[in-house]
Amino acid sequence: MAKYPLSHNANKKLGEYFYDILNFHIPPTKNKIILDPTCGKKHLWVEYYKPDINGSNKISEYGEVIFSDKINYGQEVVSAIKDLNFNKQFDGIIYDPPYFFGYKNSNDPRRQDYGDYIQTYDDLLWFIVFANDKFPDWLKDDGKLILKCADQYQTKERKFYAHHITWVSKLSNFRLIDTFIFIHHRMSPTAFQVKNRPCSVIMHTYFLVFEKVKK
Ligand SMILES: C[S@@+](CC[C@H](N)C(=O)[O-])C[C@H]1O[C@@H](n2cnc3c(N)ncnc32)[C@H](O)[C@@H]1O
Repeated sequence: MAKYPLSHNANKKLGEYFYDILNFHIPPTKNKIILDPTCGKKHLWVEYYKPDINGSNKISEYGEVIFSDKINYGQEVVSAIKDLNFNKQFDGIIYDPPYFFGYKNSNDPRRQDYGDYIQTYDDLLWFIVFANDKFPDWLKDDGKLILKCADQYQTKERKFYAHHITWVSKLSNFRLIDTFIFIHHRMSPTAFQVKNRPCSVIMHTYFLVFEKVKK
């Protein structure tokens, strides 16, 4: 088994790839605690929940993983991220907020899981500013932020948005230390119908790993 993860998923499924990334950057031990404040249906965590031959699983090798989402998917905490408060600091934050904007009634197949992307561009920016303001307090000094984000071609505006660059430039309290690319297999069925499309059909997602800027 490779000791170091690859910078692209090399056909691995999303859960397997996330396992490689998290396992490398925050190897599980009982003194490590992790927060996933936009956990959704925990698709990222499928490998961590798989039972091993002893009936245990990888997630139990961490001290604690706190899952929260504003929608009740059965996780422990149901809360909008802005209302979360902690009296402890985490070794890692997994952050996967809604990554597109202005997608109401889109045909993007990913919306089946998490509903229409009806947020505005400002809503998207809000998640960035919030992370930059709050996560430094929520993370230990050597804690890491693992962000999942994607770029977007906005069909109505016919404009390419390099959201991952916006994330990196606006997270001024953080320093990018690693980049991973996950290739999608499903894509928008209408992507190729755009006439004179000004950019490529985006088929990948990023996992960006940050550490806190030392003050
Ligand atoms: C892309 S999905 C996360 C998918 C998840 N990482 C997984 O593995 O299945 C984004 C999630 O953010 C949640 N969300 C949106 N706005 C939120 C907010 N203000 N506070 C907390 N969660 C929010 C949505 O309910 C949705 O589950």
